[in-house]
Amino acid sequence: MSRVFYRAPSSHYPVIARGEGIYLWDTDGRRYLDGASGALVANLGHGRREIADSMAQQAQAVGFAHTQRFTSAAQEELASRLADLLPYGLQHTYPVSGGSEAVETAIKLARYYFLERGEPERYRVITQWPSYHGNTLGALAASGHLTRRHPYDPLLSAAFVHVPQPAAHCGGPRASSGCCPCAERVQAAIEQVGPSTVAALLWEPISGSAASGFVPHRGFMAQLRALCDQAGILLISDEVMAGMGRTGRMLGIEHHEVRPDIVTLAKGISGGYAPLGAVVTTDHVYEAVASGSGHFVHGFTFGGHPVACAAGAKALDILEQERLVERSARMGVPLAEGLQALAREHAAVREVRGRGLMQGLVLTTDRRSPGGRAKRLAQLAMEHGLLIYPGSGGGASRFGDHALIGPPLIISEAEVAHLLSLLDDSLRQLAAEQNRLD
Ligand SMILES: Cc1ncc(COP(=O)(O)O)c(C=O)c1O
Repeated sequence: MSRVFYRAPSSHYPVIARGEGIYLWDTDGRRYLDGASGALVANLGHGRREIADSMAQQAQAVGFAHTQRFTSAAQEELASRLADLLPYGLQHTYPVSGGSEAVETAIKLARYYFLERGEPERYRVITQWPSYHGNTLGALAASGHLTRRHPYDPLLSAAFVHVPQPAAHCGGPRASSGCCPCAERVQAAIEQVGPSTVAALLWEPISGSAASGFVPHRGFMAQLRALCDQAGILLISDEVMAGMGRTGRMLGIEHHEVRPDIVTLAKGISGGYAPLGAVVTTDHVYEAVASGSGHFVHGFTFGGHPVACAAGAKALDILEQERLVERSARMGVPLAEGLQALAREHAAVREVRGRGLMQGLVLTTDRRSPGGRAKRLAQLAMEHGLLIYPGSGGGASRFGDHALIGPPLIISEAEVAHLLSLLDDSLRQLAAEQNRLD
């Protein structure tokens, strides 16, 4: 009997053996096309020798030194590469070990910034429902995700205020408020709790696992920026999934042409080769702390881990040298077109949405089994040798099935076609099963 406490102890998990390019193999020799890069993590593909070498070199030189006492060449390199690659004056990197830690850090940094500025009354954070920002208690409290929150509700702080997701299409600002109806709801939430108590708006520029591939309508994020500027609030863009080129831009928020004050990164930043995340901010926020108390009261033992930073720095080299951000934009076109074609053919697919190689399928719901259709599709796909990332319960109910398709950014056009044909087979089988049940 295994001694591992699995995510779902009642489930059976194949044992992973190796990976190469967009494929994974289990120890029984079964091959899987990694159509979701794990959970949109393995952006550079599997089996990258140069990242493994870089990590081994770092581990041999020194595996760990506490960041309370030391910096490392790897940490310095990661931060300086990010400063070169990121837009909007995002210059200062605080490394952590994953997405939830990045979100926790960004929220605490926003709060700390206002303490440094002598505005201790600011602590609230406004976010969207549905959204997903992580599974630690702070990040979960920020998340608008019913099924992930529900068991832990009594532990979740009321400092987080949720507003409904904006429409995908909207008529634009009204003369009376200067905001569209979707942004008016954010404005109303700020006014209701008191603008001087709000530290940050925390937003996914393109939704991940709570609402696969949802893109707010044009102009919405710009209105959030304006509301932040009016009320002196910070804008945090949660780029844990959408960032690092996944959507065909370095950051998801670039699609909205809006400047954030803080971004959170993880997943693709190391391509999954090491647990790594980062919070990156502008001079303005950084200087408030650096020239204020000079000490951000926060920190994780493994933040800035030299081996993880070495993996991240090498991953950034590859991202740039192989022009994978541009490739994501380019390969996103046949992927989105192919998915649209599948949606026309299969009644189970209601909508396709997303940007670049972050595409969401919205599925019709099976009232007999909330979340069941997305899960079943993912199971069938796995039996066909394709991995996708199913989701449900991201909205206000347990219903709302959807799935993310997000292959490694190195995918070729022929491999996109292969992915689509495996998904086609899986959807066909799903439809056959549904017909038997109906
Ligand atoms: C947008 C977003 N934020 C935060 C997280 C949490 O990241 P992690 O699972 O690395 O803690 C995720 C994970 O899926 C995410 O998609």
